[in-house]
Amino acid sequence: MADLARRVAEAADLVTVALDELLPRADGPESWLTEAMRYAALGPGKRLRTYFALETGRMFELPERSVLRSACALECIQAYSLIHDDLPCMDDDDMRRGRPTVHRAYDEATAVLAGDALQTAAFEILAHPDTHPDGAIRAELITKLAQASGAKGMCGGQMIDILGVRDDLGGVARMQRLKTGALIACAFELPLVMARAKEAERHALLAFAHDLGLAYQIVDDLLDAEGDPEQMGKAAGKDAQKGKANFVTLLGVDAARERLGLLEKQTKSHLDPFGGQAEFLRASVDFVLERRH
Ligand code: IPE
Ligand code: IPE
Ligand code: MG
Ligand code: MG
Ligand code: MG
Repeated sequence: MADLARRVAEAADLVTVALDELLPRADGPESWLTEAMRYAALGPGKRLRTYFALETGRMFELPERSVLRSACALECIQAYSLIHDDLPCMDDDDMRRGRPTVHRAYDEATAVLAGDALQTAAFEILAHPDTHPDGAIRAELITKLAQASGAKGMCGGQMIDILGVRDDLGGVARMQRLKTGALIACAFELPLVMARAKEAERHALLAFAHDLGLAYQIVDDLLDAEGDPEQMGKAAGKDAQKGKANFVTLLGVDAARERLGLLEKQTKSHLDPFGGQAEFLRASVDFVLERRH
């Protein structure tokens, strides 16, 4: 586990340095915007999507530089989704990653624009030949990220979240698949596309990503119910307070934990075909289950 924590921290450093290079510098009259983008994207996120992408890239022996660019694109989308998620018209949160949210540190209009510009930056990064020499592969990477972020992915999940799910576990599961699951799965999809992976490999890894994304959101909901806001760097208790249905408000803490216990084995079993090569992805399941922030 100590080894894994080191690898996750290394992945986080790598992507933060790469993003620092790729994002526009504060310069000119628009620098209020570029500063806000950098504030959000270079802040202390866990960078787990980066970790998943880099470890998958390693499994397929892909050049790290290319995979890292894909990870930068994923983190731009992640940062944009969080900026907008925190806005007063959505979750109305003041703290994110242990610091004031973007609309608090800057203002609402800037937060909207910083999210917009981070979203387009993600696709600009993928479209650059440094990401992959083959234009057809780059087009496929762009398509996968667009699908994971759009109406049938993250944005669609956010819409379901805002409209509210009735007391129905199937509805919460669908919301999760779109809201969190799609972008987590994309962290595996992008390197799979670059590797031109075989169908069986794709199938196994995406089944892993599916269960991992589900576990990730159940943990997020448990943390919302009983986590330490100080440690999490964001407010807790928001979902119940707002009457939002999630896995924990529906199942209760004990049943949600029980479900996580069952998911652990199932999630790891999807990696069996990869044997020892998947050692660090396998261990990342424990990391996700035990996270406190
Ligand atoms: C938070 O994502 C929102 C969810 C999808 C549950 P993370 O918990 O990965 O947030 P950061 O990127 O580490 O801040
Ligand atoms: C947000 O889910 C997921 C996104 C797509 C940004 P939450 O609203 O549960 O995320 P937190 O708890 O604010 O991080
Ligand atoms: Mg939300
Ligand atoms: Mg939120
Ligand atoms: Mg949450």
